[in-house]
Amino acid sequence: MDTRSIGVFDSGLGGLTAVKQIMAELPNENIVYFGDTGRVPYGTRSKETIIKYSKNDVNFLLEKDVKMIVIACGTVSSTALEVLKKEYNVPILGVVEATSLAAINATKNKKIGIIGTPGTIKSGAYEKFIKAQNSEIETFSSACPLFVPLVENGHFETEVAKLVIKEYLEEIKEKGVDTLILGCTHYPLLSKAIGEFMGDGVTLINAGSEVAKALKTELASQKLLKEDGKVGKYSYFVSDNVDGFENLGGLFLEREINGQVEKIDIERY
Ligand code: DGL
Repeated sequence: MDTRSIGVFDSGLGGLTAVKQIMAELPNENIVYFGDTGRVPYGTRSKETIIKYSKNDVNFLLEKDVKMIVIACGTVSSTALEVLKKEYNVPILGVVEATSLAAINATKNKKIGIIGTPGTIKSGAYEKFIKAQNSEIETFSSACPLFVPLVENGHFETEVAKLVIKEYLEEIKEKGVDTLILGCTHYPLLSKAIGEFMGDGVTLINAGSEVAKALKTELASQKLLKEDGKVGKYSYFVSDNVDGFENLGGLFLEREINGQVEKIDIERY
C-alpha cells in the first residue's frame, strides 16, 4: 500500500478525460494533475521539443512526490515514453499500449483506424504496436491537427466541429474500419460527433478509459494501491491562466474545480 499521489500530465486540458476515468476506476487515489496550458499544443512540435517539455512535466510531478506517472497525452506517449522510462526511476505509464490492446480486442474485421496529432501519427507508435501483436490487422491513420484547438475552445458538437470531423475522417471511414482509436486525450470530447459521423458499426476506443484500467492493474501488481478507504484528494496545476482551465476543466470532469487550480512556472523544472 502506498498513499502517495498519482501524477498525471498532458499538454493541456485533454488529459482530464483520463483523470475522469481514473477517478471513477480508483476513487481512493490522490491525483496531482499538470496541464501545460502555456505551451499547448505539443502535437505539432519536434520530437526534441516534446521530450524537453515532458521532462519539465515529469520533474514537476516528482517534486510532488508521486508514486507513479501517467502520461495522459497521446503525443508524449508516442514520442517520448521510451526516453522518459530510461531517465527516471518512477514507474511511467503511457496510453499507446493499453489503447492499442483494446482496439485489437474490439476489431472483428481486422481494420483499425487511428487518429491523433501530427506528432503521434508521424511516430507510427500505434501502428507498430498493433502490427507487432497481430500482423494481419490493417491500420489506417489520419493526423487531425485542428481537433485540439476545437476542443480547447469548447467546440464539441458545433457545425464547425462536424465539418472538420468529416474532412479528417472521410477517408478512414471509406476504408471500412470497424474500430477507431482516439489516439489523443483531447478527442473523447468529440466522441459524440465522431461516433455519429462514423456510424453505429464502429467502436471508438478512448485512450483515457484504457489507461485508467491499465493503471489499476499496474498499481495492484506493484502493491502501490492506496487502500486506506479514504476518498482521494485532487490538485490541479497549469502553466497559464487558471480561469479557462477551471471553466472548461470543470465541464470535462463534471465537478467544480474553481479555486483549486494553481499556476506554476514550468520552465523552472
Ligand atoms: N493531449 C494531446 C495528445 O493526446 C494533444 C494536444 C497537443 O497537441 O498537445 O496528443
